Amino acid sequence: MHILHVVGARPNFMKAAPVLRALSAYAEVRQTLIHTGQHYDSAMSDVFFQQLGMPEPDCNLGVGSGTHAQQTAAVIQAFEPVLQERKPDLVLVYGDVNSTVAAALVCSKLGVRVGHVEAGLRSRDRSMPEEINRLLTDQLSDMLFTPSADGDENLIREGIESSKIHRVGNVMIDSLARLLPSADQCFPGDVTSPYALVTLHRPSNVDDLPWLRALLSTLSELSAHLSILFPVHPRTRQRLKEVESSRHGVTEVESSTAHGVTEAETSTTRVETGASPVPRSEASGKGKKLEPLSTHALPPLRLLDPLPYLEFIALQRRAAVVITDSGGIQEETTFLGVPCLTVRENTERPITVTMGTNQ
Ligand code: UD1
Repeated sequence: MHILHVVGARPNFMKAAPVLRALSAYAEVRQTLIHTGQHYDSAMSDVFFQQLGMPEPDCNLGVGSGTHAQQTAAVIQAFEPVLQERKPDLVLVYGDVNSTVAAALVCSKLGVRVGHVEAGLRSRDRSMPEEINRLLTDQLSDMLFTPSADGDENLIREGIESSKIHRVGNVMIDSLARLLPSADQCFPGDVTSPYALVTLHRPSNVDDLPWLRALLSTLSELSAHLSILFPVHPRTRQRLKEVESSRHGVTEVESSTAHGVTEAETSTTRVETGASPVPRSEASGKGKKLEPLSTHALPPLRLLDPLPYLEFIALQRRAAVVITDSGGIQEETTFLGVPCLTVRENTERPITVTMGTNQ
């Protein structure tokens, strides 16, 4: 049997890794791994492949960034000939990113069976691009692999036949449990407790600049009580540059250097994360541009490059609190028993609130 996996963005990798690993135990299963290239920075992709022990992708579609329509269309266009050439018996897609729905659509049009890993999650907020991706991917899939009972219930409510639904648990937590001992070796040497770990990247938080400013101001106030470690996603990095430009009366955004070091990527106070396989940028005077984020003479936020998986897990485990808008981090903090404050009005992962540490 030939199974083809499609991954594209950071949160896909820790979900696909345990499935690839488990299937490799079956001699009769041949596996192909396709990376769409939605995430392409080394710190957003390569380092995760290395740390999760994933094989090199058989093919990278190299779609890169763009509007949602451009990115989704680019995956559809690039994936179709690959699917026709490779002729798998089953395609597995993961999570809720644009690559997920695009690959599922191509499969359904070509009559190739598709399985969705992390099916059934719903925020019931259709302004979230991921919610649209979840709804459509589940409608297109032949096999729906759910992490929890609420996923099954959502699918049944939407008219999916129960014979297609398979509750398999949370594969992202399988990665976490397997690599926790390695993560403990990667705790950065210069971090002292207590600290809050922050991630923000959702359009609803970072694309609305007045709202982003308000969030930064709140974090700045919090930094009087505990240090704030903030690994900055590329999308957020661009928005922080806009915040900074507008503070200086400059409305034009500096041209993006997405593959290189930018001011926002450079930390105001850098945390050395040990022997990272990612070439890290040197701290430089350029990072000073972000210091005004710390108003009221409070200590600055510690803005960091996106962190590798193991370093991030290590920091999560010992954090006093995690403040995030990520979906996966809500689940990881619940597993780790670390308090999590989710900066959103809803969650597609209600189990992290009813049974976990999420608020
Ligand atoms: C995507 C997913 C989101 C997931 C997130 C995790 C969708 C709709 N969203 O959002 O669900 O939580 O990944 O990170 O699929 N960029 C880089 N380097 C990269 C990748 C992106 O610089 O390697 C920059 C580009 O300027 C790009 C922006 O980040 O325009 C956003 O990337 P994109 O893949 O469009 O969405 P994410 O915000 O990462």
